Amino acid sequence: MTRYEVLLKDLPLSPKKWLVTGVAGFIGSNLLETLLKLDQFVVGLDNFATGHLHNLEEVKQQVTPEQWSRFKLIEGDIRDLDACNAACSGVNYVLHQAALGSVPRSLNDPITTNSTNIDGFLNMLVAARDAKVESFTYAASSSTYGDHPGLPKVEDVIGKPLSPYAVTKYVNELYADVFSRCYGFKTVGLRYFNVFGKRQDPAGAYAAVIPKWTASMIKGEDVFINGDGQTSRDFCFIENTVQANLLAATTKDEKALNQVYNVAVSGRTDLNLLFATLKSELALNKVNYTKDAVYRDFRAGDVRHSQADITKISELLGYAPSFGIEQGIAKAMPWYVAFLK
Ligand SMILES: NC(=O)c1ccc[n+]([C@@H]2O[C@H](COP(=O)([O-])OP(=O)(O)OC[C@H]3O[C@@H](n4cnc5c(N)ncnc54)[C@H](O)[C@@H]3O)[C@@H](O)[C@H]2O)c1
Repeated sequence: MTRYEVLLKDLPLSPKKWLVTGVAGFIGSNLLETLLKLDQFVVGLDNFATGHLHNLEEVKQQVTPEQWSRFKLIEGDIRDLDACNAACSGVNYVLHQAALGSVPRSLNDPITTNSTNIDGFLNMLVAARDAKVESFTYAASSSTYGDHPGLPKVEDVIGKPLSPYAVTKYVNELYADVFSRCYGFKTVGLRYFNVFGKRQDPAGAYAAVIPKWTASMIKGEDVFINGDGQTSRDFCFIENTVQANLLAATTKDEKALNQVYNVAVSGRTDLNLLFATLKSELALNKVNYTKDAVYRDFRAGDVRHSQADITKISELLGYAPSFGIEQGIAKAMPWYVAFLK
């Protein structure tokens, strides 16, 4: 059995109290769903800046009334220390996801990205430290690799950040490390690489590529590829990301704590292939998209290629991704077709 399989068996036997910040967002609501299905107690903190009540309503439909009664939502802002303190009270494990994502958003409005992702992060660290939680797992980002050309990306070799968003995510890592050193606080940073799956927001200027393209295809609209289509990413299905969070939060191995880890599958898919894969998976779901992609300029701040080395997380946390990109897209597609119409 993998460590994750053991964990999935053990957790319901001794339920813990988890705090998921950003619980109404894409990754947060998927964490919530998994934790409630495992009979855990969950506190959620969100200000609905980019998250949605309908994500929580959908989770409610996926769990039993008894499991749903174990969830408590606090509507609040991580930039408010009192809200963070209230949310951390009595919590065993923190999964800190709340932040403003998106490189373009940070280029348009670096101040709000900074205050949410850095001031808010520091508030959460202080509140979690003072509440004496057992561990603090946080969403870091592959954007921290910045302009370093090396592939695959190995955790301790990074370049210069290419956007204000990347700066904030790197500062998170620095703060977490300092809290570990100065206060003996237990942190784990998870550098996510292009996560995708159900409940990822397809709307707005800052949407991620997979839900955005899929929604456009379902509606018969044009799909735009920024650049020549050879830009590549290590797309990671949400269930792998959930696995990484649960493994990180519950590890008791001192060597595994106070570290940052890549979370991905170590694959590399370029945008041309992604376009073709989405098109054929949609066809299998009876949606025929007949247009070709429309090419336009490269987007500012984007890194050209991204692929993770996942040796560290596999060895220290026992992470074993159960979905590659094709399996993830196949699993997510019926949801996209049902919800993105
Ligand atoms: N999705 C990805 O591919 C990816 C990649 C790298 C890192 N990340 C990180 O993962 C985390 C979750 O991302 P996501 O894709 O689920 O995004 P999301 O926008 O769907 O979720 C973020 C959630 O945080 C909430 N939030 C934002 N500002 C807040 C504030 N000030 N106070 C309280 N709540 C606030 C939002 O309302 C939203 O519900 C973020 O930290 C993001 O930077 C995501």
